[in-house]
Amino acid sequence: MTGACLFDLDGVLVDTATYHYLAWKRLAEELGFAFSERDNERLKGVSRMASLDLLLAAGGIEGLSDGDKQRLAEKKNSWYVGYIKQMTPADVLPGVLDFLSQLRKRRIRTAIGSASKNAPLILERVGIAALFDAVIDGRHTAKAKPDPDVFLLAAAAVRVPPPDCVVFEDAAAGVEAALQAGMRCVGVGDAGVLQRATVVIPGFAQVKWDVLERQLAGREGK
Ligand code: BG6
Ligand code: MG
Repeated sequence: MTGACLFDLDGVLVDTATYHYLAWKRLAEELGFAFSERDNERLKGVSRMASLDLLLAAGGIEGLSDGDKQRLAEKKNSWYVGYIKQMTPADVLPGVLDFLSQLRKRRIRTAIGSASKNAPLILERVGIAALFDAVIDGRHTAKAKPDPDVFLLAAAAVRVPPPDCVVFEDAAAGVEAALQAGMRCVGVGDAGVLQRATVVIPGFAQVKWDVLERQLAGREGK
């Protein structure tokens, strides 16, 4: 029985993963090294400061003070916020609104479980805040995915036990977080990257909840 669907935000409901990448790449270039989309895969789902540490390690930069790191993270975030301020309802990924409406018709609760401190701004810009019963994001926990905290908080907020929750994630770290929370996980995106997910879909276009739920039931205990 599924009581709630918990959604990662960046890269699942909106294509902000691209904006995160562009801003990190710009920071890397300013620091004097190249940063590829493949390098970026490890940053997906990870908190801002943990992402910065991974980026600096990729560029072989060591020994920065906490203050320096804080300034770099703020710089990246100001570029990123510049991108997301331009977002409109047209930036919701294909099929998302229809999928959320299928869930709501079946009285399945919906929540956001995101590492981002910018989640409220994005939800407001693209106009989907009212479609969620709860929003748990980077303001509520400092524990970065793959720690399960963000999804456990989201499940508690909608009062549904973890085994009755399904998480939707585009990042390997997020899939781990869902599994560690004792939840089933639908990977959204590249099946190669999301191997540990219970089921993988390329995106929400044409996805029917009833079909997906049968697939999940068939893969239980995978
Ligand atoms: C996650 C993204 O949702 O949020 C990460 O996948 C990002 O790439 C993290 O670093 C933190 O986001 P923000 O907006 O608080 O910097
Ligand atoms: Mg994501």
